[in-house]
Amino acid sequence: MSLIKNEIHWVGFIDGNLRNFHGYATPAGSTYNAFIVLDEKPTLIDTVKSYGFDEMLARIRAVIDPANIRYIISNHTEMDHSGTIEQLLAYCPQAEVVCSPKGEEGLRRHFKKNWKFKVVNTGDTLSIGRRSLQFFLMPMVHWPDSMATYSPADRILFPNDAFGQHIASPERFADEYGIDRVCEQAAKYYANIVMPYGNQVVKVLEALQALPLEMILPSHGLFWRRPEDIRRIVDLYGRWARYEAENRAVIIYDSMWHSTEKMAQALFYAIEKENIPVSLLSLQTSGLSDVITEVMRSKCVLVGSSILNNNVLPTVGAFLTYVRGLKPRNRYGVTFGSYGWSTVGFKMLTDFLREAGIEPMDDGHYVRYIPDAAELAQLCAVAAEVKKRLTT
Ligand code: FEO
Repeated sequence: MSLIKNEIHWVGFIDGNLRNFHGYATPAGSTYNAFIVLDEKPTLIDTVKSYGFDEMLARIRAVIDPANIRYIISNHTEMDHSGTIEQLLAYCPQAEVVCSPKGEEGLRRHFKKNWKFKVVNTGDTLSIGRRSLQFFLMPMVHWPDSMATYSPADRILFPNDAFGQHIASPERFADEYGIDRVCEQAAKYYANIVMPYGNQVVKVLEALQALPLEMILPSHGLFWRRPEDIRRIVDLYGRWARYEAENRAVIIYDSMWHSTEKMAQALFYAIEKENIPVSLLSLQTSGLSDVITEVMRSKCVLVGSSILNNNVLPTVGAFLTYVRGLKPRNRYGVTFGSYGWSTVGFKMLTDFLREAGIEPMDDGHYVRYIPDAAELAQLCAVAAEVKKRLTT
């Protein structure tokens, strides 16, 4: 069923086979949500990824002749939402493309076309008949061009990527799919896509406070409609945007000959003994997009590596690069690992964590070759320090 509310139909593309979204593991697939508003000047809000065009077109045709579309609103240039504008314009050549100033720049760079652009800014409105749509620029949530469209007549917000989740499902609403499962995926989405832009998210949330909201329809995954669910996701975004974390720890490591693994396991049991919730993630088996979600939840981040050729292991290097870019901030760090003859590579651990806003609690815990019982016992003293940081 495509009707969402009052002449607003969902016409998106369900990408059930997607397992990797530019490096982000998507075991549940994804959905690219597009909407057609059947007002006097029929308006499409966002499109879908290039290979979803036929599905989107069929859904549009089920409710309207695409030749009647007057406006195509592009809330965000990234090609999972704007990738089929060119194909669609072949069916509605008179349609105007509505976007932010940065959106126009981005679309011109991607398509190299002189479409009929209608550039809008925050506070601008667009009358499409019985409705007047409003626009809010959301720079860096999560690209410079990002904006939201709001329909006051319907009290519906179309915030594009914000509040989204990578889920493919026959259900359209979060309460139908299971709110806890949707929130879990929304957290993963925020951690991997939005986390560096907390200050910008705070501004968006402030602007939202003035809007009556009956529904939030993001461009990926399930929609938010129950008042308690809207409150829940907006509150979660507030906490994530302020870089708040839970009083828990995550241990992330890779190991050549099991020594760093022994240290990671010793830390795990010691922290668990202090009644601190703790996760143990090997970079051999855990994907970065799941690891970073755990980092977002956790106030304390412990990272371990063996030394290889004066560097950390490549898997740990990839994690450090990723976490430095996403900048979780306001967290405590502990570094550890095993080495053979040079400790120089460990500097990368502390440097990158600092740059990610994860402040090392001490100078690190490094053991030559294989840790003995006394060294492991000494390492386990870190658990009491972790507890102190998390509970005071
Ligand atoms: Fe879902 Fe930034 O694109």
